[in-house]
Amino acid sequence: MDAAPPIPLGVLASGRGSNLKNLLQSGFRVAAVATNRPHCGAAQIAREWGSPLGEFPQSRYDSRVERDRAMVTWFKAQGAELIVNAGYDRILDPVFVHAFADRILNLHPSLLPAFGGSMDAVEQALRAGVKLTGCTVHLVVEEVDAGPILLQAAVPVLDGDSVDTLRARIQAEEHRILPEAIRLLAQKSPSIRQ
Ligand code: GRF
Repeated sequence: MDAAPPIPLGVLASGRGSNLKNLLQSGFRVAAVATNRPHCGAAQIAREWGSPLGEFPQSRYDSRVERDRAMVTWFKAQGAELIVNAGYDRILDPVFVHAFADRILNLHPSLLPAFGGSMDAVEQALRAGVKLTGCTVHLVVEEVDAGPILLQAAVPVLDGDSVDTLRARIQAEEHRILPEAIRLLAQKSPSIRQ
């Protein structure tokens, strides 16, 4: 596999943090991790790896726009140049989207546009009875799960799959395509300092 590009990443995360861990283990330069859930697995991984961690629970702010403005300021102060939503469970305010226009990647556990706009895409795929689902890495625009798609990976739904077994196979693909999408974007965007 190609070496990780030395772009300073800002990672937004709220969950288990397996994608964050995979980026760290793959040698990506994680300049900063921001979370809205200070007790989540991703926050713990950032602490273990010594990545600067910004805690931005919504309860500390009067509005989403205030919180997201604070995150922009903090990410910029840490030198983050490309933002990666790796399991971030909030919708970004337009203020954030414009501050890092064309430099925010989102990871979604379905083949968009199928099962977009939701936090339970894996459950929805199972309920719908589709035989094929997967994951998508796309650029973030104001509309949720609607930005240009960079990479997708298909994952078959097997007889007897549960949410957990299907999610595990989707995540294995996420761990492959997220780093690849970061490399792609780094190559396509010469304006991003490396
Ligand atoms: C991933 O499945 C991603 O598609 C979704 O949130 C999950 C995050 O997983 N947006 P993890 O926290 O990286 O393990």
